[in-house]
Amino acid sequence: MSGKTAILRMTRAAAPRLSNASRTPIFRAIPAVQRPFSISAARSRSDVVQETEVPVSVYSPDSTGAAGSTSDHFSIPVNRDDAKPKPFPVEEDSDVVPLTKRVYRDMPPMMQKMSVMDKVVVVTGGARGLGNHMARACAEAGAKALVIFDVNQELGDQAAAELHQKTGLPVSFFKVDVRDGAAINAAVDACVETYGAPDVLINSAGIADSNIKAETYDPAMFRRLIDINLTGSFLMSQAVGRAMMDANKPGSIILVASMSGSIVNYPQEQSCYNASKAGVIQFGKSLAAEWAKYGIRVNCISPGYMDTALNRVPALEAQKKIWRSMTPQARLGNVDDLNGLCVFLASDASGFMTGANVAIDGGYTVL
Ligand SMILES: NC(=O)c1ccc[n+]([C@@H]2O[C@H](COP(=O)([O-])OP(=O)(O)OC[C@H]3O[C@@H](n4cnc5c(N)ncnc54)[C@H](O)[C@@H]3O)[C@@H](O)[C@H]2O)c1
Repeated sequence: MSGKTAILRMTRAAAPRLSNASRTPIFRAIPAVQRPFSISAARSRSDVVQETEVPVSVYSPDSTGAAGSTSDHFSIPVNRDDAKPKPFPVEEDSDVVPLTKRVYRDMPPMMQKMSVMDKVVVVTGGARGLGNHMARACAEAGAKALVIFDVNQELGDQAAAELHQKTGLPVSFFKVDVRDGAAINAAVDACVETYGAPDVLINSAGIADSNIKAETYDPAMFRRLIDINLTGSFLMSQAVGRAMMDANKPGSIILVASMSGSIVNYPQEQSCYNASKAGVIQFGKSLAAEWAKYGIRVNCISPGYMDTALNRVPALEAQKKIWRSMTPQARLGNVDDLNGLCVFLASDASGFMTGANVAIDGGYTVL
C-alpha cells in the first residue's frame, strides 16, 4: 500500500458508547506508516514465491466405470488481479423439493445425520420471512410434518397450503398468538394428537420497534414487544418442551434471537428490541442447562440485518446504506440465509451442541 493510500476504518464498535451529541460515524484515516510492521513479517512476506502457475494432481474413478482410477497432472494459471466479491443473488419464491426416503437411503451416513428425516417440526412466525424459509428448508431436509404457528390468519393459511402443495407433506397451520399460553397449549396438544410430539421447535415469531428513543418509549409498547419476543419464546418452549418430555423424546429448540441481543445497533435507537433479544439469548442458555437432562437441546440463531418484510420499510432506506457500510459482506442477509444453520441445529449432527448462540450477520459483529 502506498504512503498516499490510507486505510479508512470506521470505529463502529465504539459508536454506540458515544454520547448523543457525537453519534456520527467516525472514519479515522490511518496512514500506512503507522501500522505495526515487524522485521520478521517483512522478511517472510518477501520470501513468498509469486507463482504464475499452480501444479495440480487429480485422482478420480475411471470414467469408463471399470474398476480402477485415472490420474491427471496439469497446471492452472494464477490471476493476480484483485478478486472482487460477486453479489449474491436474492432468492425469491422458489420450488421446495422434499427429501424422499429413497434419496435419504442413498445418502452417506454424515449427510443422513445432517437431515431432519421423519422429524415433526413446529415453526412459529412461519407465515412469512425467515420462519417461512426455515420451514421450507426443513421440508427439503426430510421433515415428516410441518406445523406453522402464526398470528396472521391469511398469510399463515396461505403459507401452509403452498408448502403442502409444493412438497406433498402434511402441513398444519394454527392461528396462535405466541403471547397466549392457553391457545399455545391447545395447539401443541392438537399437534401431538395428529403427528406425535414435536422433535423440533423453531421460534421465529417476533416483532421489531426501532428509531424510538428510550426517553419517549411508550411503556405499553415496551411491554408488548417484550411479551411477544421474550415471553413468547418462553411460552412456546414450555409447551413444546413439555410435550417432548411427556413423550420421552429428545428434541431441539431453536430460538431466533438477533445480533441486537449482543451488540447495540447503530444509528437507530431500539433499546426495547435489543433488550428483548438479549433476554432470548440468556433464556436459551438457561433452558439448555436445565433441559439437557431430558435430551432437549436449546440453541439461538442471531441474525444480522436481513432483507425481509420487517426491514422493507421506506423509512429505513437511508439507514440500510449505513447498515451495509458496517457489514463486512456489504449486504443484508437473504431471507434463506438462516436455513443451513437451522437444519443443522434441528438435526442430530448437532447432538453435542446446546446453549450456543450463533451469529449469521455477514460479519457485522466481528468489527
Ligand atoms: N429481519 C431481520 O433483519 C432480523 C434480524 C435479526 C433478527 N430477526 C428476527 O427474526 C425473526 C423473524 O423475522 P422476519 O424478518 O422473518 O420477520 P417477519 O415480520 O417477516 O415475520 C415474522 C412473523 O412472525 C409473526 N408474528 C408476529 N407477532 C406474532 C405473534 N404475537 N404471535 C405469532 N406470530 C407472530 C408474523 O405474523 C410474521 O409472520 C424475528 O424474531 C426477528 O426479530 C430478524
